Parts: sequence; C-alpha cells; structure tokens
Amino acid sequence: MIPVNPTQLRLGVNIDHVATVRNARGSAYPDPIRAAKLAEKAGADGITAHLREDRRHISDQDIDRLMAHLGVPLNFEMAATPEMQAIALRHKPHAVCIVPEKREERTTEGGLEVAREENALAHFIAPLRDAGCRVSIFIGADRAQIEAAHRIGAHVIELHTGAYCDTHAEGRFDEAEAELHKLRDMSALAHSLGLEVHAGHGLTYDTVKPVAAFPEVMELNIGHFLIGEAIFRGLTPAIAEMRRLMDEARGQSAVA
Ligand code: PXP
Repeated sequence: MIPVNPTQLRLGVNIDHVATVRNARGSAYPDPIRAAKLAEKAGADGITAHLREDRRHISDQDIDRLMAHLGVPLNFEMAATPEMQAIALRHKPHAVCIVPEKREERTTEGGLEVAREENALAHFIAPLRDAGCRVSIFIGADRAQIEAAHRIGAHVIELHTGAYCDTHAEGRFDEAEAELHKLRDMSALAHSLGLEVHAGHGLTYDTVKPVAAFPEVMELNIGHFLIGEAIFRGLTPAIAEMRRLMDEARGQSAVA
C-alpha cells in the first residue's frame, strides 16, 4: 500500500487532459504516464485519472501503466457502472471516486445524485470497500447528498467546486462568495459526520486559496487548469505554484 501523508493538504493532479491532447492526433504523444511521473516529482501527492465510458481521454492501457509505474496513490475516477466496477476490482487502486457521467457532457458537470440512488450505490460501493479501496463520492455542496454519502458507507466526499469557479470566472463575485459559503458549511458538516473531505473541479490560481483554507479539506484534485498552464510555464513550475498557493492558504511555508 502506498503511504498517504495524513497532515498536509494533498494535491492530486488530474492528467486526463494530457491524454486529450494525445488522442487529438491518435498518437502516443504526449504520454499521460510521463506527465504523472513528472507531477509526482513536482510534489503531487496523488494522481487522478478518469476512465470514461467513451474512453475520450484516458485509456484502459493508461490505467494499467499508472498502476504499474506510479509511486503515489492513484485516485481512479469512474462512473457507477458494472464495467468500471470490474476494472477497479481488478486493479484495486488506492481510491475510487464515483462520478456522474453523461456522454454528451464536456466535463463532469454536476455531483452524483446519491440521495435518490442510495440503495443501488450502497450495493455498488460495497465490493470496492471490501477490496480495500478508499471510496470517494463526487457531490455538490448539499446536505441531503452528504448525509446519504455517509449512510451508504463512503469514506470520502469530494465537493464539486465548479459552480464557485464558474461564477468567479464570470465576475459574478457575490454568487461566487455564496457558493464558497456553501462549500465551507458543507465541508464542516461532512467532517462532523466522519467523512474525509476533498474538493475539486475548475480550480485555478485565482480560486484555489479560499478552498484550500477550509481546515476540513484534506485533498484538492486539479487538472484542466494545470495542464493548460503547463503549456506556458511547464508542468513542474505550474504544479509548484499551485502547491505554494495551497500551502500559503493553509498558513504553511512551502519551505520545510
Ligand atoms: N475532481 C473530479 C471528481 C473531477 O471529475 C474532475 C474533472 O475530471 C476534477 C476533480 C478536476 O477538475 P479540473 O480538471 O477542472 O481541474
């Protein structure tokens, strides 16, 4: 089992969009596993990869190679389907993050509907828990969903930060502030129920600090912005700057 640092706010780097660029040409380049290894060296505490049903970015072979070569935990993002469950049970990654998935969406647009699917999801995650995977549920900042995630036996919830980031990017700062309040209150609620709290989606240098400052949040998963920023400054400096901002928000110096 790959160790997890229990004290520091962890940064999970999502490498899906390295595969998006690779697949645009149907070539082997750029290699998402090379990016994952580089991210690891740059200070990522984990790597996140989403094997989508349509395989639009990450492939089955990418998951095989990540499992073989990563020195940090893999957070395997997947929809709640029998096919993905079988793949997860074959690999037994450190964590599985259950996300909603629609073929027509560009990205994971909302959180999972846990409250309505409680029984089905409880049955779905039971074998993953039994296999030793940390089970994370990607949800909106909503009390009913968090309480349902707790009841079905999830270890972790990952709060969807997309609404906060989108409103911030559009200059709707009052709405962004309201979204941030919801995220903060729901982080505290989830923590009080004994759930580990993660957050992610759409985070950038401009939006990361208020979320990183929530004391209950243990991990941020960030992809699209970092891979985009890597075009301009390189992957290692792009990750180092995100790490610095996270540490600053948490009141820690990046220098030990
Ligand atoms: N967390 C989850 C559960 C996601 O689905 C995604 C997007 O794949 C992310 C984090 C990362 O979002 P972004 O790529 O916008 O940083």
